[in-house]
Amino acid sequence: MKKLPTTARRRSLGTGAEDWVDIRPLSEDSPYPTLVTPKVEGLDLNEWAKGNRPFIEKLFHEKRSLLFRHFESGGIEGFETFTNLVADGARLPYRDRSTPRTTYGDNVYCTTIYPPEYTIRLHNEGSYWTAHALKAIFGCVTAPETGGETPIGDVHGVYNRIDPEIREEFVRRKWMLQRNYNEGFALPWQEVFQTNDRAEVEAYCKENRIEFEWRDGDRLRTRQIRNPVLAHPRSGELLWHNHAAFFHITTREAHIREALVSEFGEDELPYNTYYGDGGAIDPEVIAHINAAYDAELVKFRWQEGDVHLIDNCRLAHAREPFTGDRLILVALMEPFQPPE
Ligand SMILES: [Fe+2]
Repeated sequence: MKKLPTTARRRSLGTGAEDWVDIRPLSEDSPYPTLVTPKVEGLDLNEWAKGNRPFIEKLFHEKRSLLFRHFESGGIEGFETFTNLVADGARLPYRDRSTPRTTYGDNVYCTTIYPPEYTIRLHNEGSYWTAHALKAIFGCVTAPETGGETPIGDVHGVYNRIDPEIREEFVRRKWMLQRNYNEGFALPWQEVFQTNDRAEVEAYCKENRIEFEWRDGDRLRTRQIRNPVLAHPRSGELLWHNHAAFFHITTREAHIREALVSEFGEDELPYNTYYGDGGAIDPEVIAHINAAYDAELVKFRWQEGDVHLIDNCRLAHAREPFTGDRLILVALMEPFQPPE
């Protein structure tokens, strides 16, 4: 790669956004992600992004996944700045969360704190919320020694792979996430809702179409019923956009599933999913959906300084097991409310 040129030589590179970067698919096997790399060494990502929002925006809507690599991306602070340069409005807070997270700056989070030996399957962030974020932005501060990829998967592809009869049944009956907040396992409701005040939890639930039930011993049960299919807010393409398989008890590793069921019983599980009318989902249906996700999964290694901007509606993301330290930042932006 060339060195960052002097002012005189810079002029010869041109002033258009695309004069400074190369754009191509990362791999020949998949259209995702699109790799954006600087043509010159030492190019500051935010300096380049600052004047080029329309270009980035157009490329984002066309490609859905932009992996910025080999730029000077400026660590945690640079990441925060970048999110403001490529997305409108504020970064979203993580309420109604399912895993612990550490905060870096203003609504910048590390990705899920979850034992490194486990896989986190493909999911669209917050599919069980009432508002969905169009943009998810990931930044690699510390790349793990091995593994720890954040694979992505096209959920329009997942939609097309699912048997139409199964899809239609879900569309008709919707899907439901049931959570039981029991003391001593998974996140306490205080952390999930980021408050100790029951009235605030209730207000949040009412505002976000979550049924709630306080139970003895400070226990809480919530149920939220959502549509399984989302029409993309810009393109209208149909997307398999839900956590029905992700949170279903049969998706868990066998030893965890057995431990949970024997500890809590089927109805008291910390997480489980059903059809929206409360009916059980056949484990074979869940396996079929998980196979559709697996077929769409695209995996690639993190490099320190990488920043990955994805369409959180069109693309799901996952996490591979890893060794060594790993710090991947994430921010969610540009929320919209789909019809109920
Ligand atoms: Fe996630």
